[in-house]
Amino acid sequence: MSETRPLVAVSGESVLDEILRIAAAAGCELDCVPDLVTARAEWARAPLVLVDTAALGESGSRRLPRRGDVVLVTDRPLDNPAWEAAFDAGVERVLTLPGEESDLVALLADVTEKPAAGKGTVLGVVGGRGGAGASVFAVSVAIACADGGGAALLVDCDALSAGIDLVLGAEQAAGLRWPDVSVRSGRVSMAALRDALPDVGRGAGHLVVLSCGRSGGGPSPEAAAAVIEAGVRSGYTVVCDLPRELGPVGWQVVDLADLIAVVVPAEVRASASAHRLVERLRYRARRIGLVIRGPSPDALSADVVADAVGSEPLTVMRAEPKLASALERGRFRPRHGGPLALGAADVLAALRADVKAAA
Ligand SMILES: Nc1ncnc2c1ncn2[C@@H]1O[C@H](COP(=O)(O)OP(=O)(O)OP(=O)(O)O)[C@@H](O)[C@H]1O
Ligand SMILES: [Mg+2]
Repeated sequence: MSETRPLVAVSGESVLDEILRIAAAAGCELDCVPDLVTARAEWARAPLVLVDTAALGESGSRRLPRRGDVVLVTDRPLDNPAWEAAFDAGVERVLTLPGEESDLVALLADVTEKPAAGKGTVLGVVGGRGGAGASVFAVSVAIACADGGGAALLVDCDALSAGIDLVLGAEQAAGLRWPDVSVRSGRVSMAALRDALPDVGRGAGHLVVLSCGRSGGGPSPEAAAAVIEAGVRSGYTVVCDLPRELGPVGWQVVDLADLIAVVVPAEVRASASAHRLVERLRYRARRIGLVIRGPSPDALSADVVADAVGSEPLTVMRAEPKLASALERGRFRPRHGGPLALGAADVLAALRADVKAAA
C-alpha cells in the first residue's frame, strides 16, 4: 500500500473495469481493496479515494474519519439513500461514467504528477509604480525556474496587459489564453492545463503560460485561484504578474502567495508610490520583499530606497542592457549571468527558503 497511489474501493464490476482502464491510460497505479473498513489505514493516507455506492453502503464505512479527496464513481444516477450515504461519508464529488471520464482522467493525472518533493510555491510580482518592470521580472523568474530544470507556471493577472505572452515573444504560440479558458469547478487539473496552454520552456524544465489575450477579459478570482492551486498541487513554481490596482483577482493572489515581490526603480517618486502599495499589502501578504532596479537617475542607494518603501530588499539589480529593443522585437530572454537572471535567481531562492522554513 502506498501514500502515492489512489485507493479504490469499488465492487461494481463494470465501474471497476472502467476505472482500471482509465487509470492504465493515465499511467496511474491504483490500490484496489475489497472494502473500506479493512483498508482503514490506507483510507487516511491515500492521495485520492474512489468509492462506489456499494462500498459506502457497507456497515462500518460510516465510522471512518473524515478526509478530503473522496470521489464517488457511478455509472447510473444516484437515488436518495445513495446521496445520503455519500454526504455522510464526506464525498466531495460524484463522477458519472462514461460522461465524466475526462474529469476522472484529470484527477488521476493530478495524483501521478504530484512530486515526491512536496508542494509548489506561489510568487506574486507587482510594480511599485506604473512601468516599473514587474511583467519583465515575472517572466524572468519563470524562465530562471525552467532553465534550472524546474516546472514554472506563469499566470497573467493583469487584464489590461494585452498579454504577458508578448513579453515572451510567444504571441504566436499555440494554446489557450484567459478569454478561452472556462473554469467550471473549483478544481482544475494541472495535467489538463499543461496540455491546453502554450509551453515555452527550454532545456530541462518547462514553462507553461496562461496569458491574457489582445482582447477579452482576464481571470475571475475563482479561476485564478483554481489555476494557482492546480500548479501548487503539482509542485510548480507559480509566478503571477499582478496589476498595480490589485482588485479582486490581485487580492486573491495575495492571499495565496508565499511571497509578493514589489519591483521598484531606484527613484524618489517610485519609492514613494511603492511605499503606499506596501502599506496596503502589509496586512494581507504573507511576506513582501523588494526588487530594486536601476537605472537610478540620481544615484539613490538601495538602502535609501528600502527605507523609503519600508520593506526588505530581495535583490538589487542594474538595468538590463538592451532590454527595450529586445522586447520590441519579441526577442527578450534575460542575459545569462546578467542583472535580470541574477535578480530572478535571488528571488527564487528567497521563495524556496521561505517555503522550506514554513514546512
Ligand atoms: N530590469 C530592467 N532594466 C531596464 N529596463 C527595464 C527593466 N524592466 C523593465 N524595464 C523597462 O520598463 C518597461 C516596462 O516594463 P514592464 O512592462 O515589465 O513594467 P510593468 O511594471 O509590468 O508595467 P505596467 O505598469 O504596465 O504593468 C520595459 O518596456 C523596459 O523598457
Ligand atoms: Mg505589467
